[in-house]
Amino acid sequence: MSNAISTQDLYDQAAAQWSRSEQLLLSDFTARPRVLEAAGDVRGQHLWDLGCGEGYVGRQLAAGQPRRIDGFDLSEEMIASARQQAGALAAEQGGPLHYATANLSDASQFPEGQCDGAIAVFLFNYLSIAAMEAVLQRCHQAIRPGGVLIFTVPHPALAFLRPAEPPFYLEPQGHTYLGSSDVQFEGRIWRRDGVSNPVRSIHKTFADYIGALQRSGWSALPVVQELGVTAEHLQVDPAFFAPLQGCPLHLLFQLRR
Ligand SMILES: C[S@@+](CC[C@H](N)C(=O)[O-])C[C@H]1O[C@@H](n2cnc3c(N)ncnc32)[C@H](O)[C@@H]1O
Repeated sequence: MSNAISTQDLYDQAAAQWSRSEQLLLSDFTARPRVLEAAGDVRGQHLWDLGCGEGYVGRQLAAGQPRRIDGFDLSEEMIASARQQAGALAAEQGGPLHYATANLSDASQFPEGQCDGAIAVFLFNYLSIAAMEAVLQRCHQAIRPGGVLIFTVPHPALAFLRPAEPPFYLEPQGHTYLGSSDVQFEGRIWRRDGVSNPVRSIHKTFADYIGALQRSGWSALPVVQELGVTAEHLQVDPAFFAPLQGCPLHLLFQLRR
């Protein structure tokens, strides 16, 4: 089925609703803090933020005094927002944050050179398995020994466990977990203030992720976390988080080069 709107347009149109300076979206609570924990001490490092969006995670990583963070994203509006917000931060802290538009599904637009580590926070759900594998391979070549690659994706079971209701869903539209790899599901994720953003996920099974990692050179066992709502989340805002209690929301992969 063809989509009415391209991913670039989807994010160009929603850039203002993604822009935030503190935890707001569901996944700002359930996923992004775990990415920062996994990244650990980034002092002096040169990092890539693949599919950086409007730069929320990069701005948080910047507090750890990396030497440089290069953010790349398909959406010109998301990159414009990231640059604008990094400018405000640079006035206070100096400027490690740099941004460029790039379609990371296109090998010719992938960043050149090497880095000390990379993150891809909810990028791979917009890429086919083949495109994800190419990015993983390029990261394997680019990340210096000892560096880490961290990526998050929607949990592959989520679409099959939840109705199309707040605060997060993906609609499988009759497709099944097995046999639907590379099929695109549409969904929405909510902010705590009631605003929701459209999201999509090109379905991959758990084995699709492991296979792509092995084929792209990441042969050591990854550290994998299945992320969901915790007791702390329920304390912060029971009405918002309670519908997701016990449901796997995201996968986090951490790989060391
Ligand atoms: C869910 S948002 C996450 C943004 C950011 N990583 C964060 O955690 O706030 C997904 C981002 O991936 C970007 N994206 C999707 N497909 C892409 C592609 N082929 N190349 C580069 N960026 C892409 C979108 O434009 C969007 O900004």
